[in-house]
Amino acid sequence: MHKTTMNWWQEEVGYQIYPRSFKDSNHDGIGDLNGVREKLPYLKQLGIGFIWLNPINASPNVDNGYDISDYRKILSEFGTMADFEALLAEAHAQNIKVIMDLVINHSSDQHEWFKQALSAPDNPYREYFIFEDAVDGHAPNDWPSIFGGSAWELDEKSGQYYFHTFAKEQPDLNWESEKLRRDILAMVAWWLEKGVDGFRIDAISHIKKAPFTLMWDAADHKRPYKNFQNVPGIEEHLQELQAVFQKHDALSVGEASGVSAQQAPAWVGPSGYFNMIFSFDHIHLWKRELGEKFNIPAFKHALATWQEALDEGRGWNALYLENHDVLRSISAFGDTRTEEARVISGKALALMYFLLQGTPFIYQGQEIGMTNFPFTAIDQIDAVDSRAHYFALLAEGKTEAEAIRQVGSTTRDNARTPMQWDDTTYAGFSTHKPWLAVNPNYPTVNVQRAMRESNSLFHFFQQLIVLRKNNEALLTGRFTELLKADPQVFAYTRTNAAQHFLIVVNLDRTPTTLALELASDAQLILSNYSTYETATLQAYEARLYQIN
Ligand code: NOJ
Ligand code: CA
Repeated sequence: MHKTTMNWWQEEVGYQIYPRSFKDSNHDGIGDLNGVREKLPYLKQLGIGFIWLNPINASPNVDNGYDISDYRKILSEFGTMADFEALLAEAHAQNIKVIMDLVINHSSDQHEWFKQALSAPDNPYREYFIFEDAVDGHAPNDWPSIFGGSAWELDEKSGQYYFHTFAKEQPDLNWESEKLRRDILAMVAWWLEKGVDGFRIDAISHIKKAPFTLMWDAADHKRPYKNFQNVPGIEEHLQELQAVFQKHDALSVGEASGVSAQQAPAWVGPSGYFNMIFSFDHIHLWKRELGEKFNIPAFKHALATWQEALDEGRGWNALYLENHDVLRSISAFGDTRTEEARVISGKALALMYFLLQGTPFIYQGQEIGMTNFPFTAIDQIDAVDSRAHYFALLAEGKTEAEAIRQVGSTTRDNARTPMQWDDTTYAGFSTHKPWLAVNPNYPTVNVQRAMRESNSLFHFFQQLIVLRKNNEALLTGRFTELLKADPQVFAYTRTNAAQHFLIVVNLDRTPTTLALELASDAQLILSNYSTYETATLQAYEARLYQIN
């Protein structure tokens, strides 16, 4: 692939914004669209090419915007449609593209369609959702919701049950209904016509369901939700969506849990449904028991498998270590024990994933090395699934201390605390008490300080962005993993006819030998230590070499 034939989204870096926690412009403790607008120059300085906004549509916020009550309105806490249009125009003026979150597996139970549907079984909107008769006085089957409990909720009025993959306030839309599909596709086109540059498509692998007569296979630990995850037949719906994206030349990034690396070329290959998809194989590895060690070989294997599956034009990866649903990466995979270790391991992780094949995404705060929050009580936690988890643990007989330890170390709220801009009260996010507490490490970990210090993680990311853009082999070069059996070093090359790069990263806090013969002309381009010995890798030491 020659550079001139590349798509803009292959060269650029994405930045994910969780608007509720990014920047509060009107001092009510909630981040908003004008706050995002205010910070565009900052994002420009970092070097990013597009932003992905988590949901900003009207929503009762049971699942922070992932329960949409009106697809064509802006959540009033975030601002108005005029604010959104101003943000879009200003981003475009600064050459930053904007993609939105498209949440179309389910809506809110407060959506007009669902209210209509509940009003009577023969209401025309009933078919927009999934209603089934009770079986022997119980739910139609034993499938579990991803957020805990049954995936079915009783509609007392009719005696039927409706299906929800996530919370009961997030009823699944019925993609078998042609009318529903037509309305959804028209809404997608409406936003694209407004000038939005594309979408991150939420939970899209769930839109097709297996026959409800199938029982849940609790023993399948790899794919417990397979009855409503990447079910055959989904391709027909995806192709319809793809046609709308293509017509508007929109960027599409699917959230595709349950899609394997082997299946990925069908999803993101030259004639795939999306430009890229977020995969979960590597990210799921933080879900280990408390105190258990991070499984580095499994992590390396997951990343390399996706690289190999989509190498040489078979597809394009979406590269990420963080988002609003998972832990802060330095807390999950790095070392937070000292300030120095935080920065060094943050750089190692950055170098490791940024130079893989694909488009890197930075999640807000990742660029300054924000870490998990030290939760001590359930009232510090907002996430609907985490709260349910906590109360389920208490019901099982766990003490409050045990329950908060477990939930606090896994909750998505670790990633949702307010962005740390400076060392003033509330970290410069707001002058009002924020909706979720600010991480107490903000006097040290904040944007102002990271921008002042030349050696900061922020500047390291800046360098990576420039390097990647200026070196074609780092964009489209072939990926080859080295040292596959090494228990702690992830090493790979990116190569094309003209350039050869080598990346080596020690993913552990213990030093190790670098079991590679380096070419005599190997030139160190970037690393996270100022002094080093070639044959030894210090804790989380990471290097980028060019060999030519
Ligand atoms: C995935 C989103 O990233 C997550 O935040 C949300 O809770 C679920 N999908 C349901 O929409
Ligand atoms: Ca606000």
